[in-house]
Amino acid sequence: MSVSSTQSIPVCSDIPRHLAIIMDGNGRWATRRMLPRTAGHMRGVQAVRRVVEACGRQGVEYLTLFAFSSENWRRPQEEVSLLMRLFVQTLEKEVGKLSDQGVRLRVVGDLRAFEPRLRDLIRAAEDRTQHNSALQLTIAANYGGRWDILQATRQLLLSRPELLTQPELLDENALSPYLSMAYAPEPDLFIRTGGEQRISNFLIWQLAYTELYFTESYWPDFGAKDLQAAFQWYANRERRFGRTSAQIALQP
Ligand code: FPP
Repeated sequence: MSVSSTQSIPVCSDIPRHLAIIMDGNGRWATRRMLPRTAGHMRGVQAVRRVVEACGRQGVEYLTLFAFSSENWRRPQEEVSLLMRLFVQTLEKEVGKLSDQGVRLRVVGDLRAFEPRLRDLIRAAEDRTQHNSALQLTIAANYGGRWDILQATRQLLLSRPELLTQPELLDENALSPYLSMAYAPEPDLFIRTGGEQRISNFLIWQLAYTELYFTESYWPDFGAKDLQAAFQWYANRERRFGRTSAQIALQP
């Protein structure tokens, strides 16, 4: 089980061990160029490629990308269909290359809503890359932080029904193994592109002590240099996890 940031201080270095990103601004990138919003998503895939490669080079161990939220189904049907096609095409085209780069791919979220073909591709990609360890890439798709906490709670209650009559036994350590990213440490750094400063129901449990970085750059423009700037900002943060500076200075 990974270290809980509310209970102890995880090992920190200048490069985040786990980076989580909300890739925002695809639509505005396209609209500014008088292109359909979907063109922004297509360019967004190129940014995904750049960032995966840069994270691999920089020694990031876990990269988690928010590709589609539980709320994104409310977008125009045409945009949702294009995004689904893009996921399918990207998986078909990129999984071999990702595997050669030592990337392990996982998809988290409520996948029951996706069509069977996409679900099969996801499963095949996860199986094919399961022994890789250079970079653990997670795509959050039809994901919502509240959904995650609820699904974890349901699983926990099913496996430990005594909690219904002894709720005092419920603590973080009981619930966290059921969260969909239980295999990863909590994110050290969160980046949101596109100028908005909110979490938008992303990893709301896991972001408790994550450093939050917001940039005006639209996702399709984001690249290795922007990532470097975010890492530099991160390296200068004093992560205190609720403690004082003096206590942190005494940490081994
Ligand atoms: C947010 O921008 C972006 C999305 C909802 C989709 C993200 C998808 C990709 C980057 C492409 C596919 C990714 C993978 C992993 C295959 P927005 O549309 O909300 O932009 P806006 O705020 O400017 O409207």
